[in-house]
Amino acid sequence: MNTSWNRSSTIFVDSEAIKYNIKKILEDRQPEDQVFAVVKADGYGHGAIEVARAALEGGAQGICVATIDEALDVRKAGFTVPVLVMGLIEEESAQLAQEHDISVTAGDNIWLKNLLQGNTLNGKLAPLKIHLKVDTGMGRIGYQTVADFLEGLKIISASPALYLEGIFTHFATADEADTTIFEQQQEKLKEFLAVVAEKPTYVHCANSATAIWHSECPSDIIRLGLAMYGVNPSGDTLALPYKLKPALSLKSKLIFVKQVFPGDTISYGATYTAREEEWIGTLPIGYADGWHRRLQGFHVLVDGQPCEIVGRVCMDQCMIRLPKEYDVGTEVVLVGTSGTQEISVVDIANYIGTIPYEVLCQFSGRLRREYN
Ligand SMILES: Cc1ncc(COP(=O)(O)O)c(C=O)c1O
Repeated sequence: MNTSWNRSSTIFVDSEAIKYNIKKILEDRQPEDQVFAVVKADGYGHGAIEVARAALEGGAQGICVATIDEALDVRKAGFTVPVLVMGLIEEESAQLAQEHDISVTAGDNIWLKNLLQGNTLNGKLAPLKIHLKVDTGMGRIGYQTVADFLEGLKIISASPALYLEGIFTHFATADEADTTIFEQQQEKLKEFLAVVAEKPTYVHCANSATAIWHSECPSDIIRLGLAMYGVNPSGDTLALPYKLKPALSLKSKLIFVKQVFPGDTISYGATYTAREEEWIGTLPIGYADGWHRRLQGFHVLVDGQPCEIVGRVCMDQCMIRLPKEYDVGTEVVLVGTSGTQEISVVDIANYIGTIPYEVLCQFSGRLRREYN
């Protein structure tokens, strides 16, 4: 990520909020449960390494990422805690994982056999740590039948180059009010676990939503993503049983202020026409920063007041209607609070028709990051 920003559009990350959210989630779980902080996609846009640091200080005991490169970045930053790649890595990267003590996911026996036949592992190093992924209904990756899974267990126990560290699954509907599919997945997981002779260190299934709304569901590891960042993983479908603190706020500054007159138009396509004499401010943030083009008509906060985004959001800039003249340099809140008003990533997601995860991940490396 860029580290020499000279533009005022800034993401502020509250490390204390990350620590608070981890503690809050753990209060509702079994004492032996561990949090692995999910910092894939650059820590959901917050900055992977800084989030990992805060999370570990806040009680997390491991890190989850999606790719081998993200795992290597975590190791390069000096973290020595367990790191799990939850997605599939290519067999050629397995030795890298082994060298850097990175745990990887296996989702079928073709992958395991290719790994062993390809001789990609280093016999002088400790065995590669494997988490077997079981597809109980997510339909993404993982063992689909108990017979294949059993064969996978045998392949691992017969190979000195491999070590079974974990077994896991992922729920598709843990953030929904209807628990039918969730319960079916739980039952299916039990069928897989019934054939495991010796339980590995970790059997895990909990993401944020499972940890929050199914706190009775056993999981040695909570793979904690969105809730750690203080955002409701259901959007606003399910109410949180306790308050979480949003870790991210996004602020910018007015970089240009002008008066316009009835009939004057704003931005590409001239989709906004001033109805009266109006004050228009320009912000140095646009869709290339992750400030989505569909946010036209949404609002930001200036001086505690909602101000409409007028005209099309451009790649690097957007315009807002001000209630009066404001100085260039005036602070503008795009996510967070100003006075009594608040804009959340859920508000933004609802406005543009997506989920808060996507809003956060799309905040680009062009935005300055500041950490408390
Ligand atoms: C396998 C797996 N576990 C855990 C998570 C974290 O999910 P959440 O951010 O909802 O906690 C993800 C994220 O997509 C995931 O893919």
